[in-house]
Amino acid sequence: MNMKRFCVLLVAIVIASCNNNVSKKNSTVSSDTSFLVAKDIHTQSNADSVLLKHLDLDIKVDLDKRIISGSATWTIENTNKVNELVLDTYDLGIDSVLSDGQKVLYRLDSPKQYLGAALHIPIIPQTELVTVFYKTGKNARALQWLDPVQTLSKTHSFLYTQSESIYARSWIPCADGPGIRYTYDARVAVPKGLMALMSAENPQQISDSGIYHFKMDKPIPAYLMALAVGDITFRKINDRTGVYAEPAMIDRAHYEFEDVGKMVSTAEKLYGAYRWGRYDVLVLPPGFPIGGMENPKLTFCTPTVIAGDRSLVNLIAHELAHSWSGNLVTNATWNDFWLNEGFTEYFERRIMEEMEGKSYADMLWQIGYEDLEDEVTNIGKDDKDTWLKLDLKGRDPDAGLTDIPYEKGCHFLKLIEVNVGRENFDVFLNKYFNEHAFKTITTEDFLKYLDNNLIKDNATLKNNININAWVYGPGIPANCPHAGMERFDRVDNMRSAFLKGTLPPLAITQKWTTYEWLHFLRKMPKPLSLVQMKQLDDAYHFTKSTNSEIADLWFITAVTAGYEPAYGAMQEFLSTVGRRKFLEPLYKEMMQTGKQEMAKRIYKAYRENYHPLAQESLDKIVR
Ligand code: BES
Ligand code: ZN
Repeated sequence: MNMKRFCVLLVAIVIASCNNNVSKKNSTVSSDTSFLVAKDIHTQSNADSVLLKHLDLDIKVDLDKRIISGSATWTIENTNKVNELVLDTYDLGIDSVLSDGQKVLYRLDSPKQYLGAALHIPIIPQTELVTVFYKTGKNARALQWLDPVQTLSKTHSFLYTQSESIYARSWIPCADGPGIRYTYDARVAVPKGLMALMSAENPQQISDSGIYHFKMDKPIPAYLMALAVGDITFRKINDRTGVYAEPAMIDRAHYEFEDVGKMVSTAEKLYGAYRWGRYDVLVLPPGFPIGGMENPKLTFCTPTVIAGDRSLVNLIAHELAHSWSGNLVTNATWNDFWLNEGFTEYFERRIMEEMEGKSYADMLWQIGYEDLEDEVTNIGKDDKDTWLKLDLKGRDPDAGLTDIPYEKGCHFLKLIEVNVGRENFDVFLNKYFNEHAFKTITTEDFLKYLDNNLIKDNATLKNNININAWVYGPGIPANCPHAGMERFDRVDNMRSAFLKGTLPPLAITQKWTTYEWLHFLRKMPKPLSLVQMKQLDDAYHFTKSTNSEIADLWFITAVTAGYEPAYGAMQEFLSTVGRRKFLEPLYKEMMQTGKQEMAKRIYKAYRENYHPLAQESLDKIVR
């Protein structure tokens, strides 16, 4: 993983002291503790005064007009007896609003950048149901509408959503903060012949009527609301796991994910029961802007993980791990994002260690560590954006989507593991997930919990871990743990030999995993000569690689070296793949090595194939 920042911070609002930015809690009269939400600067809703308990969604998806329309009915409890309910919206058209069945005069504020427009709905202390009739707008940031040519079948349109971080509000009027949870039911009407799927109990067959009913009976935050509509088919893996994909992809997807059933049991052995019933994976068309999204019960994933040899399934381990860290125990605000992603990276590597052995997991740790080093260099080693506790005040939460929460986060947890011993740490994590299930947690709550349950005022431990340096301090602290290098040391030897003229023998490289190849290429001197590029390509056929991670890195290496024989395949790759993690470094490399014309030509040709969010970040790179 090598996610880069998409948003350049123009104004840094520096808040003076580190330990002073403990989130304020809004105390309420409700006895429901999940209602104690930390102050979240990215929602304009008043969910701290009105309890949102349940959502009934009744929508129609028009793939031709590219509009979702219908109603969202909220079951509420006006705990603080306030006179309005405020919901988040983004580019939604509001048709009318009912309060307990009566039409009311609502007010829609003018939109704020990235936060959208607050919708004010008059309510009385007794109000129980609020219904908003609405339709989505052209700038819905959560929605990607695909023309048939952008799918594998080439015959049907496709729609999918991506609600994290704050995009749910662009397709549902809601209280859009990670600390606000509710259950939902949905009735979704789609064109006949197409399948509809959500982050809920899902159908396994296409409905004749085009009407689907969904139920999510566990409370979830808005960023986990998800919908996909298209020519999608299902294949079972085991009794509780399966895979959905376009028909032309289903065989390959099923083969790639055959071990997912085993992965779920492995995860359960580590950190307790899987609480969501089924675990299915939906493989999306190639324009999906991210690798994977942990929508409850149904992970959404990019087809670029289908390498043909199951070598990239750690991405599924990651999304599965979110069923505990993230979906079960959720970061209270986007400033606490490391609690979602750092824990999940740690958990992902523990699953992979169980499944593939320690030397394999060590490679993931080392690659992650190098990503962390690069990210810290990018952001600046003294920059506050390299703290684990983020300060996203006045910014789009996407500004926090860097390798810091992921890699600094999981290395911090690894450090605790090393200090307290794995057995103790696992007991602690099991307890942590259980005691915080379906709840929300701030960084400060977590640190308190850690202190009470694991550190227990042990001065030596405290000193060795140095929590403050990790959570409220910049860069990579000196006590950062390092992974074993057994397999990468051997790769280093092979690379040195190659640079002296001897190619690594196939008998050895045939046993290499994706991560050995990535390490082999990553540490090459830059640029390689055209002769070296050709030697490598002739021997290992990188230009034709079907492994997206290796292909992407090879294309970057080719751009640096000016190795033209790879350009055709690279353009083909850029014409279909929409994953930002691959697009951004590749376009950046073209821009930085004097190939701006090529970058602009290719981007102009394929910009429309990319997700609106990918377009937003690439517009800043290619210009
Ligand atoms: N939840 C994230 C994706 C995300 C984060 C989307 C924030 C929007 C805002 C997901 O679990 C994730 O981390 N995906 C990674 C997978 C990787 C770390 C294995 C990705 O997409 O690259
Ligand atoms: Zn994640």
